[in-house]
Amino acid sequence: MIRKSSPRRALAAGTAALLAAAGVVAFAGTAHAAGTLGDAAAEKGRYFGTAVAAHHLGEADYTGTLDTEFSSVTPENEMKWDALEPSRNTFTYGNADRIVAHAEARGMQVRGHTLVWHSQLPSWVGSLPAADLRSAMNNHITQVMTHWKGKIAAWDVVNEAFQDGGSGARRSSPFQDKLGDGFIEEAFRTARAADPAAKLCYNDYNTDGVNAKSNAVYAMVKDFKQRGVPIDCVGLQSHFNAQSPVPSDYQANIQRFADLGVDVQITELDIEGSGSAQATSYSNVTKACLAVTRCTGITVWGVTDKYSWRSSGTPLLFDGSYQKKPAYAAVLTALGGSDGGGNPPGGGTGACTAAYTTTASWPGGYNGQVTITAGSSAITGWEVPLTFAAPQKVANSWNGTASWDSSGTVLTMRSSYNGNLAAGGSTSFGFTVTTGGGSAAPPAVGACKAS
Ligand code: G3I
Repeated sequence: MIRKSSPRRALAAGTAALLAAAGVVAFAGTAHAAGTLGDAAAEKGRYFGTAVAAHHLGEADYTGTLDTEFSSVTPENEMKWDALEPSRNTFTYGNADRIVAHAEARGMQVRGHTLVWHSQLPSWVGSLPAADLRSAMNNHITQVMTHWKGKIAAWDVVNEAFQDGGSGARRSSPFQDKLGDGFIEEAFRTARAADPAAKLCYNDYNTDGVNAKSNAVYAMVKDFKQRGVPIDCVGLQSHFNAQSPVPSDYQANIQRFADLGVDVQITELDIEGSGSAQATSYSNVTKACLAVTRCTGITVWGVTDKYSWRSSGTPLLFDGSYQKKPAYAAVLTALGGSDGGGNPPGGGTGACTAAYTTTASWPGGYNGQVTITAGSSAITGWEVPLTFAAPQKVANSWNGTASWDSSGTVLTMRSSYNGNLAAGGSTSFGFTVTTGGGSAAPPAVGACKAS
C-alpha cells in the first residue's frame, strides 16, 4: 500500500508493480532522488517501516518523524495477545486501533504483530487443556484478523517458535507442548480463512544468517510450500549488536528463503552502536534486501533511540532528539535517495552529531567540550547551538567561532579552521563558563547542522 500523501511514491511503486507483473526485475530510474526513507524505498518497490507505540503518538516530534519518513508501521506491543485478549473472549482493541487509524489516515501500511507467541501471553491461555487451547488459539486468530480484515498488509501469524542454539528444535510453549508441531500449520490455515488478503508471515530472530535455527525454519517453510499450507512471507527480525553482528551470509539467507517462493521482510531491524560502524552495518542490511527481489520491505524497531527496547545501545536511525544519525544517511543513500539538494544525504542538517562532556569544574565554573562527528559523508562546515542556564556566562571559547542570540542565552558555535571533516571524522571545540552563583548545569546542546 502506498502513502496517499506521496504521488511520487505511488507512481514509483506502481511502476514497480507493472514491471514485476511483466517479470522484469529492474526498476525504472527517477529524475529526482527521494528525500525520505519511505519515498526512497517506494522507488525501489518496497516499504520502509517502523515499530510504533500508541502512547507516543501524542508527541509532536515522534509523529512528525514517523509521518515524514516511514511508509509502514508495526505496533510494538499493542497487537500482542496480552494487549488484545487479556481475559478469554474479551477483546481490547483501543490502543492498536489508534495506531491503525493513524496509519490509514496517512496511507501507511500496517504489519500485524503478532497472533501466536509464547511471550506476552496472558496466563489464562497457558492453563487451558489442549482441546480448549486449540479453540482459544483459533478464536484469537479469527477474532483479531476479522476486526482489521482488509487493513493489515501482513501478519506475523506465529512468532519465535524455534529454539536458539544448534538443535533446530521447536521452543517449548503452551502451544507446542499441548498441540504439538501441527499448531503452526493450524494457525496459518486459520489465518488464511480469516483474512485472505493479508500476507501471512512466520517471524523469528537469530535466523538472519544460515544456521541451525534458520535451517529449521527453512525446512518448515519448504514443507509448507510443498504441501500447500498457506504461508506468504518469512520475517527476519534482525536485532544486531557486537555479540550478534550482521552475518556475512545475510543476503544469501534472504535469497534462499525467497527461492522457496515466499517474500522476505526485515521486520525488527536495529543495530547497536554509533557513527560510521553502525552506518555501515545499516547500509549492508539495506543493500542485502534490495539485492533480493522478494525482499519486500524493511521495518526498524522504533523511531528514536530514546524509546528503543535497547535504548542504551542507541540502535536506531534517529537519536533521542530526533536528529538523523549517520545510519540514517547510510540507509537513505543505499536506497538511492538523497537530501533536498539532490546530493547524497550528508550535506545537510543531521549529517553531523554533537556530544558534550565537562572536562573540568571548580567552585564557580567549569570547562565544557563538544565533539563534532561527521556522518557517512564528508562535510565542509558545522554549527551547534548551546543554551546556557542564567546567570551562567561564557568567559572564553576556542576552536570555533562564537555568536550569541539577542537573549544572550543561546550561543551558536560554528566551525572556523576545522570545518572540513571526512566521513566519520571528528573535531572538538571548548569553552569556559562562570556560574555567577547559579547552577553548574551543563548547556543544552542542540542539533549539529552540517554544510
Ligand atoms: O506498559 C507497561 C507499563 O505500564 C509498566 O509500568 C512497565 C513496567 O515494566 O511495563 C510496561 O510494559 C512493557 C512494554 O514493553 C511496553 O513498554 C513491558 O514491561 C515490556 O516487557 C515490553 O517489552 C517489549 C518486549 O517485546 C516484550 O517481550 C518491548 O517493548 C518490545 O520492543 C519487544 O518486542 C519484541 C518483539 O515483539 C518480538 N521480537 C523481539 C522484540 C524485542 O524483544
